[in-house]
Amino acid sequence: MKGIILSGGHGTRLLPLTKVTSKQLLPVYNKPMIFYPLETLLKAGIKDILIIVAPEHSDDYLKLLGSGKQFGAKFTYEIQDKPEGLAQAFMIGENFIGKNNVCMVLGDNIFEDDFSKTIKNFKSGGQVFAKKVKDPERFGVVKFNNKMEAVRIEEKPKKYLSDYAITGLYVYDHRVCEAAKQARPSARGELEITELHNWYLKRGELKVDIVKGAWFDAGTFESLFSASEMIRKKI
Ligand code: TTP
Repeated sequence: MKGIILSGGHGTRLLPLTKVTSKQLLPVYNKPMIFYPLETLLKAGIKDILIIVAPEHSDDYLKLLGSGKQFGAKFTYEIQDKPEGLAQAFMIGENFIGKNNVCMVLGDNIFEDDFSKTIKNFKSGGQVFAKKVKDPERFGVVKFNNKMEAVRIEEKPKKYLSDYAITGLYVYDHRVCEAAKQARPSARGELEITELHNWYLKRGELKVDIVKGAWFDAGTFESLFSASEMIRKKI
């Protein structure tokens, strides 16, 4: 299993904090934000990790994370020239992934859960993780049937679909690179990761687990603050 941390983006919702630095380098209590998704991968035994960053902050990431040796891991870096969508990570990372399975985590996603069992047991297809939220319209949303099997996934649905948001941790087999190439930009001009979930869902190969512990996408002032608070209480 290879790992990817997607850590580019604009971070416009956190301006002016993100005027001169990358969102995922901002502190969450006592560590830079990216340390938390990195720990999610390391805990699951993933040691070969591609870090995708925006060109203007690549030197800061190198300085902070280096070769990966201090984490007992190996880091590779790629630049995403423009933030053209989460699914683009699998085009940028195609050579890195090769014929391996891959686990991608977003650089601003902080999880309390330990996913190591699920990730270690993953064989093929797609595996994503959902969490009940108050504001599902901000996320990719999944609808379940009464057996808790995913039946429909929509990106930022305008009409209510369900309360379950798909979080920023995704496990796929190498066919995800093929699926990413087939994706077409959405109305907002991005290659949406929802298209990749649907690629697997259509084939009956997508599993959706529920996230039990806390989850933050630390991209707003409110969630950044709450994430820091949770970490402070835990340590
Ligand atoms: P978002 O929070 O959707 O986007 P953003 O970070 O640019 O923030 P804002 O909406 O406030 O401008 O991105 C989720 C995560 O994915 C975040 O860690 C940044 C990363 N990302 C990329 O690395 N490349 C991309 O093309 C996109 C869309 C996001």
